[in-house]
Amino acid sequence: MFVCLCNGITDTQIKHAVASGDTNLLAVRQRLGVADQCGKCASMAHMIIQQQLAVQGLDLSPEQALTDNFYEVA
Ligand code: FES
Repeated sequence: MFVCLCNGITDTQIKHAVASGDTNLLAVRQRLGVADQCGKCASMAHMIIQQQLAVQGLDLSPEQALTDNFYEVA
């Protein structure tokens, strides 16, 4: 499914970015360009990243998840 309509980025692409080593939205944004236009996709992309990290057994603590928040990093 398309997550970022501005850039035509899908959930599969985001999951592959996490599988390739990205652990937060900033890293995925730098790799794919997700959330670099209107930003409406940021929360959905963040959720997909967290879900994929959990699938990979790399889920972050609540404190780490907060510090990885796109809006705090950007
Ligand atoms: S929908 Fe992703 S930047 Fe606009």
